[in-house]
Amino acid sequence: MKSTVYIETFGCQMNVADTERAATGLRKAGYEMTASAETADVVLLNTCSVRERAERKIFRRIGEVRKLASPTRKRPLIGVMGCVAQLEGPSIFRNSPAVDLVIGTRATDRISSLIERVQDGEKSVIDLEERQEGEVWDVSPAERRSPYVAFVPIIEGCNKFCSFCIVPYSRGREKSRSAQEIVAEVLRLRALGYKEIHLIGQNVNSYRPKSQAGLEPYGGATPFSRLLRAVADTGTERIKFMTSFPRDFHPDIVSALEEFPNLCDWVHLPVQSGSDRVLKAMRRGHNSEDYLRRVEAIKTSTRRLSLTSDIIVGFPGELEADFEDTMRLVRACEYDGLFIFKYSKRKGTPAEKFEDSVTEAEKTRRFLALEELQESIQSRIYRDYVGRRVSVLVERQSARSAEDMTGHSTCQKVVNFRSEGTAAGEILDVLISQAKPYSLYGEVARESRP
Ligand code: 5AD
Ligand code: SF4
Repeated sequence: MKSTVYIETFGCQMNVADTERAATGLRKAGYEMTASAETADVVLLNTCSVRERAERKIFRRIGEVRKLASPTRKRPLIGVMGCVAQLEGPSIFRNSPAVDLVIGTRATDRISSLIERVQDGEKSVIDLEERQEGEVWDVSPAERRSPYVAFVPIIEGCNKFCSFCIVPYSRGREKSRSAQEIVAEVLRLRALGYKEIHLIGQNVNSYRPKSQAGLEPYGGATPFSRLLRAVADTGTERIKFMTSFPRDFHPDIVSALEEFPNLCDWVHLPVQSGSDRVLKAMRRGHNSEDYLRRVEAIKTSTRRLSLTSDIIVGFPGELEADFEDTMRLVRACEYDGLFIFKYSKRKGTPAEKFEDSVTEAEKTRRFLALEELQESIQSRIYRDYVGRRVSVLVERQSARSAEDMTGHSTCQKVVNFRSEGTAAGEILDVLISQAKPYSLYGEVARESRP
């Protein structure tokens, strides 16, 4: 019998999607997937390196897995996959001698043969090579994290090289999947009963397939907005996409959202900073005015579109005046949600050479000030939902109360509500009665029940 494998996933949705793909391949090769490290012969850690803290977590976890040996059982084989694997490469073996296997970000389809080499006695097995010609993104529904919400990668990698960011090095150059392959996968998922599709990529709107096949009948100014229309045309109930890159955000994306109600009312458009000086040093390829023009197109849409963003505070050289520009931009954008990060120096990025001039205490102060501002804006936005109905995909019982269920709205807000016999996987209207800082609460709108 072949061994049992457990994959533990850290980081972004791309890693979740990669884990699903890896599990599909392993099961096909005869491995059994297990639900915990304790019961596995092989433990694979699918890692993230976007900030230092994420990376440190991995090395702590390797230490824990190494100790899973018992008198009756050898410790599991340990493999590191994902971004840390690709970036650190062979040095992982030196720093963590317990690691048997290093699997780069494009070796997902070769994992079973790599495990076999380790089991045959080979030491320090490593694969940092590119994907092979003709590889297709094959994910079995059995390996998907949810039976209702599916992640569908449309573009891998990144060509933008923002000065702070490690992703172009860990994930390589942008590579788009063909529209035909994507649409075929979405149709399969729909037939299996999936209710919501997330089209994912580091920069989805930089989507640029080699051929236009599959996009021809669909009007639109960019390949991405045509892909959105093609995917919407499959009739899938809810379609979301993330992340969008400001420079490539064409207003035609907003037009597509206006044409197709099943394209959800949410855009994640990270700005990173509100200061033109900092944006330049970040090499973002846009200034605050360019960004605000995109926001204007989103805010003046005939649909009320929810807008979220990412911001880094304490980038090298960020002065108080730059931070105030960021505060001003956040006031102007009125985000529905904001992810705030303290700058974290990443080895091998251009910003590594910049002097990390902002003290930790000052980073914390800016973080908290921005968080407070966002909370006040957000609570106003959330209060506006009281008395309104939102469409919710029911995901599970709420962790807070056995009487409540929880899910997300089309605009990507967490909505909790009295369960009243509702089941996971249902889509229903919830009438909002209460707004909390990060979630909405309500009751199922009667007329919407079957
Ligand atoms: N330091 C802090 N935050 C970072 N991000 C990316 N790289 C860094 C870094 N070196 C943030 C950006 C990005 C999000 C996914 O992570 O805001 O949009
Ligand atoms: Fe990183 Fe910039 Fe690429 Fe986003 S667009 S992944 S921030 S380099």
